[in-house]
Amino acid sequence: MSGRVCASDFEEEAKKILPKSIYDYYRSGADGQNTLAHNLSAFHRWYLIPRVLRNVSSVDLSVSVLGQRLSMPLCVAATAMQRMAHPAGETATAKACKAAGTGMMLSSWATSTIEEVMSAMMAVQGGEGVLWMQLYIYKDRELTLSLVRRAEKAGYKAIFVTVDTPFLGKRLDDVRNRFKMPPHLSMSNFSTASLAFSEDSYGNDSGLAVYVANAIDPTISWEDITWLKKHTHLPVIVKGILNGEDAVCALNYGADAILVSNHGARQLDGVPATLDVLEEVVQAVQGQCDVYMDGGVRRGTDVLKALALGAKAVFMGRPVLWALACQGEEGVTELLELLKEELRLAMALSGCRSLSEVNRSLVRKVDFPSRM
Ligand SMILES: Cc1cc2nc3c(=O)[nH]c(=O)nc-3n(C[C@H](O)[C@H](O)[C@H](O)COP(=O)(O)O)c2cc1C
Repeated sequence: MSGRVCASDFEEEAKKILPKSIYDYYRSGADGQNTLAHNLSAFHRWYLIPRVLRNVSSVDLSVSVLGQRLSMPLCVAATAMQRMAHPAGETATAKACKAAGTGMMLSSWATSTIEEVMSAMMAVQGGEGVLWMQLYIYKDRELTLSLVRRAEKAGYKAIFVTVDTPFLGKRLDDVRNRFKMPPHLSMSNFSTASLAFSEDSYGNDSGLAVYVANAIDPTISWEDITWLKKHTHLPVIVKGILNGEDAVCALNYGADAILVSNHGARQLDGVPATLDVLEEVVQAVQGQCDVYMDGGVRRGTDVLKALALGAKAVFMGRPVLWALACQGEEGVTELLELLKEELRLAMALSGCRSLSEVNRSLVRKVDFPSRM
């Protein structure tokens, strides 16, 4: 028995294990970290309104995400450089996702290759695993498309294109720590030191901020969604939408789905919590595509609230890194099973036997008394 009983227990333990600059990189939000706090506290501003006497002896959590059947509507978000948390890094996460029957989004900035993560996942017997590729659009478009082609060839099921990072948000601890990758690691999908984030020095700034300024294309615009769609047969999901207008643009330019995300509060500080803009996005797309969300999901009740506000499924970032740091693949499996059980219990206690019974009437915004 690990003694861990909720997601935050993993973070406490991981903090004791990880070197400070790595813990800081994983944990940080941008600037004053106001949005980082809001992503979590937003969940406290919604009540669950349960229904009773509905025979909840059996609850079905399964869901279809981008055409794949998953065991639950909770998936793993792209987080960069997972081998800093554990030597097996992304391969461990992929195996744990398959064992738990859920999907994993692999970062462009993984410390394992696109192909090795797929092989690791395929090697797990039983379970249903799904891999999706997260894509940053590089200044070098051929390089960008080579990532897409490799993901297609390896059997990834969709491309999540991240649109909130024309430059890297200012994460103060990373600047203070002059964050860079430990020398034995690199971004494995690239062959040169400059693209693999393995230069000796990045000066006095966050190394990653320098990397992004050098390599990532800040000129990208809506036409690039159409460009990407033209070059892949995979569904393209726009990751990083925070309002209804952009959601409609995403649809108009060919997006197959939308991921409401503020990048775990690591880009523009001061934007709303993702939970607070989810409903606006859901209403804007009028059922024309699925809407997913990430940011601050830490409990089964959080998943349920996001689903009630219209998300088809949600993604989780940091807790997976803490679980990896604690105990590699076993740690991530434990975390995913724990959240799955929390969601099952939350649904049963709310009177929901399947996700089709989760709807807007399940949540009500907390009415804060106004102070005179
Ligand atoms: C350490 C770390 C690295 C991340 N790396 C990426 C990345 O490479 N690509 C990307 O699109 N998003 C990245 N994200 C954002 C996540 O995909 C996701 O939006 C966010 O973590 C969700 O918030 P949560 O951590 O509160 O669950 C990263 C987030 C963290 C915390």
